[in-house]
Amino acid sequence: MTAKRSKAVFPGSFDPITNGHLDIIDRALKVFEEVILAILVNPEKRPLFSVDERVRLCREACRGRRRVRVTTFSGLLVDYAESAGARVIVRGLRAISDFEYEFQMALMNRRLNSEIETVFMMPAESYSYLSSRMVKEVSALGGQVGRFVPAVVERRLRLRSRSNGRRARTAGRPRKTKK
Ligand code: PNS
Repeated sequence: MTAKRSKAVFPGSFDPITNGHLDIIDRALKVFEEVILAILVNPEKRPLFSVDERVRLCREACRGRRRVRVTTFSGLLVDYAESAGARVIVRGLRAISDFEYEFQMALMNRRLNSEIETVFMMPAESYSYLSSRMVKEVSALGGQVGRFVPAVVERRLRLRSRSNGRRARTAGRPRKTKK
């Protein structure tokens, strides 16, 4: 079986999906026939966007990429990959700082299932500093994030920071009561 015919899982939190993630997806599509974008459902984390919202944003962002499927998973990644019929996990490596965590995760996953390989892909240099966490921070502080995320995510972030701003401005004001 050639790699081009195979499936790869691209797992992550995608809270939210960024242009760096899309860059990795496009690179993976050059090698694999199908890319399964798998969003981790983790009740212990407190994400900005709910799982349903992240699925919707990822689907919108990947619209037009016919060989990408957006799903969710919980539990062990290798179990999910196996059940989805994928033998490859794709992860993006932006910088050396990513390496240690990714290396540990890849080796642990190999220990858990030696049939599944992790493949690392480097995004364009212009995305090497980009992360979902920074995008959220910049947006929450009123910065422009249009260059870093798909348009649908930018709109969603803008709506969120606008309503948070409104909430912050009205917090502490005495409530109007009907007479
Ligand atoms: O986008 P993220 O948060 O860096 O993605 C991390 C993710 C989802 C790939 C990782 O947390 C994961 O695979 N979790 C599933 C649990 C698991 O399989 N753990 C064992 C390997 S470390």
